[in-house]
Amino acid sequence: MPPDSRFVPLEVKPDTTPIMIKHFTSSLSKFLSVVTLLFLISFTGQSQSIPEDAASISAGQTLFNGNCKSCHKIHTQSVGPALKNVYERAPSIDWIKGWIRNSAKVVASGDEYGVKIFEEYKKSQMTAFTNFSDEQIMNILAYIQAETKKGPETAAAPATGTPTAGGESTALPSNYLNVILIGMVLILILLVIILGFLISSLKRFLDQKNLSEEDKEVVHSPITASTISRSRGFIFIVTFLVAALGFKAVINGLYSVGIQQGYAPKQPIAFSHKLHAGDYEIDCKYCHTGVMKGKSATIPSVNICMNCHRAVKTESPQIQKIWQAADWNAETLSFGPNQKPIEWVRIHNLPDLAYFNHAQHVNVGGVACQTCHGPIETMDVVRQYSLLTMGWCIDCHRKTDINSKGNAYYDRLVELHNSKKPGTSMKVEDNGGLECSKCHY
Ligand code: HEC
Ligand code: HEC
Ligand code: HEC
Ligand code: HEC
Ligand code: HEC
Ligand code: HEC
Repeated sequence: MPPDSRFVPLEVKPDTTPIMIKHFTSSLSKFLSVVTLLFLISFTGQSQSIPEDAASISAGQTLFNGNCKSCHKIHTQSVGPALKNVYERAPSIDWIKGWIRNSAKVVASGDEYGVKIFEEYKKSQMTAFTNFSDEQIMNILAYIQAETKKGPETAAAPATGTPTAGGESTALPSNYLNVILIGMVLILILLVIILGFLISSLKRFLDQKNLSEEDKEVVHSPITASTISRSRGFIFIVTFLVAALGFKAVINGLYSVGIQQGYAPKQPIAFSHKLHAGDYEIDCKYCHTGVMKGKSATIPSVNICMNCHRAVKTESPQIQKIWQAADWNAETLSFGPNQKPIEWVRIHNLPDLAYFNHAQHVNVGGVACQTCHGPIETMDVVRQYSLLTMGWCIDCHRKTDINSKGNAYYDRLVELHNSKKPGTSMKVEDNGGLECSKCHY
């Protein structure tokens, strides 16, 4: 038995070693493959990791404010979801890239996560940013990550701080003005009193002299309201004032024929620029799409409103009016056949004889909307801010330099101008901005 028993393990041994080796190599290869996989994952994760340097974050902030802020906030839901942590919540960084470039494509592909949020946000369509580079998207994520780490802002303090500071700076001068006015009135009263003293002492002095009867009458002539009102000086001043005021009224009346500065009609829907362009900082060009390309700035179609208002504030009767115009069916989430445009009342309107082009001013000239339209982003109801007269156009063309930055077409012209009139900048007027035919058909 003992030799047997010794023999058996001997028999087994040569068999088990290969098995052990096999076992060992297979677990080693598994282990190695797991390690390489982990390594690969961490490596791809590395190339995808969100940058944390200040330059990327600030570049991301600019991109975010310019493109995303109208619909997204970091910590609270707006038109779209709050974006804090999105890099952890979304399936992957690559998914986010695909989504930002074209969310409609992601949804159409049947992607589970994409379809879910699309349904959740009542099929609001996010803008497609097809030409964003990987770097730009990573910068935006860098900004989102930095803000996520900061936590919700306690922005109330600075936000309320600024207006009071502004209020004080405007309140001070008006206080000064009051002080100066009161001071001047006091000085005038003092002058009257001094003059009164002078007159009475002069009278006393003259009484001691030997005056003729005539002179005495002059010295003692009573100063009453009737003597004043009959005096030649008084009549002259009054007629002059009446004539001047009348003349000014007539001129004002003539000038304001056909001019409607301040015109602010009631609109069919209580749309507020203060809320949309001010509080929510939606870019003017998001709604007034024609501004960079053509003559007319264009008023947004109801579809643009529906990008947000199929989901935002839907219970408001004002928004219901938009839904009616779009013939929107909230159950099937689709537009019906009976769409009709909202009849906005036009505010700015030049006569047909004049030609004005937005693209020329905004795109080529680089003039801000506010230069001509005033602080629209503070207006609940839009009003006409500028006169829109020929004088107004001409005046600005005389004063404003042409915008030759990055415009090779202008380089020659500016060169020519500088050689002809050295030391002066080239104004719009030097480029034919005062020629009748440029503004009149
Ligand atoms: C017109 C409004 C709009 C703009 C502009 C917009 N988004 Fe969105 N975004 C949405 C909506 C709405 C959703 C929710 C999904 C849906 O309905 O399509 C969304 C979803 C997302 C998601 C997925 C969020 C999640 O919870 O997983 C990301 C990421 C995102 N947006 C990033 C951006 C970035 C970055 C920008 C700017 C470059 C941007 N969005 C600009 C409306 C917008
Ligand atoms: C969310 C969309 C939206 C945004 C953003 C927006 N507007 Fe408007 N704007 C409208 C609508 C709708 C009207 C027509 C109703 C009205 O007059 O209030 C309008 C009217 C105007 C008018 C008057 C047009 C007329 O009838 O003569 C001006 C000027 C104007 N917008 C300028 C701006 C400027 C400047 C900005 C950016 C600071 C801006 N808008 C941002 C939607 C928008
Ligand atoms: C980019 C998104 C966006 C677009 C586009 C947009 N809105 Fe809004 N709108 C908002 C947000 C956000 C609010 C504020 C909702 C709140 O107070 O909770 C709002 C509020 C309103 C309100 C006030 C509703 C109420 O009863 O308080 C009206 C009216 C309105 N929008 C009309 C329009 C019209 C008309 C258009 C199209 C010309 C338009 N909006 C386009 C985002 C948008
Ligand atoms: C140089 C002055 C000037 C600048 C800058 C300017 N506008 Fe205008 N805008 C006008 C004048 C003048 C009209 C009237 C045009 C007409 O009746 O043909 C007008 C009309 C409009 C209208 C209503 C009629 C239309 O053309 O569709 C809108 C909306 C408008 N502007 C928006 C804007 C926005 C948004 C910007 C900035 C991106 C802007 N404007 C920049 C002078 C200006
Ligand atoms: C706030 C200043 C400003 C106002 C107001 C203004 N413009 Fe201009 N305009 C410019 C500037 C700046 C340019 C030059 C753009 C460029 O080519 O660089 C320009 C260019 C033009 C041109 C093209 C001239 C050329 O050289 O070919 C025309 C036409 C024109 N404006 C018409 C008008 C009319 C009409 C009005 C009044 C309804 C008006 N502008 C009001 C600033 C203004
Ligand atoms: C920068 C643009 C511009 C130039 C240059 C210009 N105009 Fe005008 N003009 C206008 C605008 C805008 C109006 C409309 C003003 C209004 O409605 O009050 C106008 C109105 C007029 C009117 C009608 C006045 C009225 O009350 O109906 C006449 C006439 C006129 N222009 C003649 C000229 C002549 C002549 C020249 C050349 C010396 C000239 N304009 C150059 C912009 C211009």
